[in-house]
This record gives sequence, C-alpha cells and structure tokens, in this order.
Amino acid sequence: MSPDKRVWINGEVVGRDEARIDIEDRGFQFADGIYEVVRIYHGRPFALAAHLQRLGRSAEGIGLALRPDVTVLAREIEAFITRHAPADSMLYLQATRGPAPRNHQFPAQPAPTLLFYAKPLPPPGEPAGSTVRLLSVKDERWSRCWIKSMALLANVLAKNQALAAGADEAVFVDGPLVHEGSASNILAVREGRLIAPPAGPRVLGGITRGALVELCPRLGIEVAERPLTEQEALAAEELLITSTTREVAPVVAWDGRPVGGGVCGPVTRRLAQVLRERIEHECREAR
Ligand code: PDD
Repeated sequence: MSPDKRVWINGEVVGRDEARIDIEDRGFQFADGIYEVVRIYHGRPFALAAHLQRLGRSAEGIGLALRPDVTVLAREIEAFITRHAPADSMLYLQATRGPAPRNHQFPAQPAPTLLFYAKPLPPPGEPAGSTVRLLSVKDERWSRCWIKSMALLANVLAKNQALAAGADEAVFVDGPLVHEGSASNILAVREGRLIAPPAGPRVLGGITRGALVELCPRLGIEVAERPLTEQEALAAEELLITSTTREVAPVVAWDGRPVGGGVCGPVTRRLAQVLRERIEHECREAR
C-alpha cells in the first residue's frame, strides 16, 4: 500500500480502507468536532506546535477532552509523518466527540474519535502566479469562528457561490467589516502598513497569518492588528489572503473589480518570500 494511504485512527495506523467510523459518530451526525490542516515540506511539518496549540484551544472551546494530549499527539504525528507522509503533502487531523446514540446532549462518557492522514500536495508556485479573485458573501456563520470547527457548510456554500461567479475564493463581509475568506485569512496593505484582522468571533487565528505578523518587524513593516473595513480593502495598495495550503496569495479582484492594482504588489511578494525562507529554515535546514 502506498504510504499516503495510511490513516492514524485512535492510536492505530491502518490502511485507509480499513479505517472505520461509526455511523453515529457525533462528527458525522452533528459536525461535533474540530480539525487542523498542517503543511508538510521536505517530509517535515511546518509550525506543528502552533497548529497543536490552536487544536488545544478549539478542543477547549467545544468542551472536548483531547486524548492523547497535545504533547503525546505531537510525537505520534511526527512518527507518522516520518513513515507515511509524502515529502510534500498536507496532514489533515480531525477530533470528534465520538460515537454515541444520536442525542444532542453530550454523552456521559464520550469516547472521542481522533484521526489524521497525509495527502500529497505540491508546494504553491510563485505568488504572482497564484492571484485570487474574491467574491464578497454576507457572513452568516456563528460567532465562534476562532474555533476551527468541522461545521463548514456556510464556508462550503460561500466557496461554491464564488466559483459559480467566476471567482476563486469567497470573502465573508458583515456590514462595513471584512472578516476572512472561506478557507483563508485576508490582510491589506495601506500606506505600507499591514492590516491584519485579529482572531475573534468571525476570524480564525490563522497560523500563516500569525507567522507573517511575527515576521513583519524584522522587515520593517508596521502591523496593525485590527478590524478591516470593506472600504479600506477596496482602496488598499495590496490585498492578500493567507492559508496553510495557499501560503500567501495576492488578491487582484473583488466582485469583478480590480483591487490592489490588479497585480501582486511588492509587500505581498516580500511577505511570501520571507515566509518561504522561514519554511525552508524550519523544514529543511533545521533538520
Ligand atoms: N483553512 N480562515 C478559515 C476559515 C480557514 O478555514 C483557514 C484555513 C484559515 C487560514 O488558517 P491557516 O493559516 O492556519 O491555514 C483562515 C484550512 C487550510 C482548510 O480548511 O483547508
């Protein structure tokens, strides 16, 4: 069996066709669970500690006791990646409240389901070649978006609405504010300063976003972690989205109109470059 067909499920590594989920798993029936997507470069996970910290916060946010805890989990993930993950891939991890007779009430003794597996994913190309057209969609999600919840129906519908309109990604807006993409964070460059909407009710604390914010002082780029208005986004010198799978991508259109000059701007290019350097340092050089 090819290595990327293995799944770690509740402490065991099995073939994907042997992995079993109960039809009454609460993840399946209620989306009662959380997830993470970790990028693997050169056979090494990028920012695994930050992903597991966020997983811990998400678990706490839904009252789920993670077993094993994140320290043990980190070791299990590292061992799995070494043996079973393609060199360039992504690791999908999901934790649910597990199987129980269907009932909205939490089971008295939950037996959480925890699984992860890797899938090949080539590294993204140059940012200039991965431009993004956004479609704005009213944010009708709940107000705990800082939890990386498996309940993604609103995100799925928004993404498909964007694709149907000839765009690449949906961006959630509510009143004057721009929150985030269906599977990405959004940031703007105004007067050379990076505006990064912070994690909160309608924004996930993206790991990629966090890495950029951390790198900015070293580049002499000032960062304002504050809400972003649609007006500011439309008038921004540069607009960009970030995510584990897309890294940094320049936004060139918003509801069919050009934004950010319609090209990949210098700050976006520089941020993409330093992120890549950090990835190379962490996943290749520091091995
Ligand atoms: N999504 N906001 C949302 C709603 C997301 O789903 C994601 C990532 C992000 C960016 O977070 P990060 O930089 O940690 O990937 C922001 C993942 C990749 C997904 O669902 O596939």
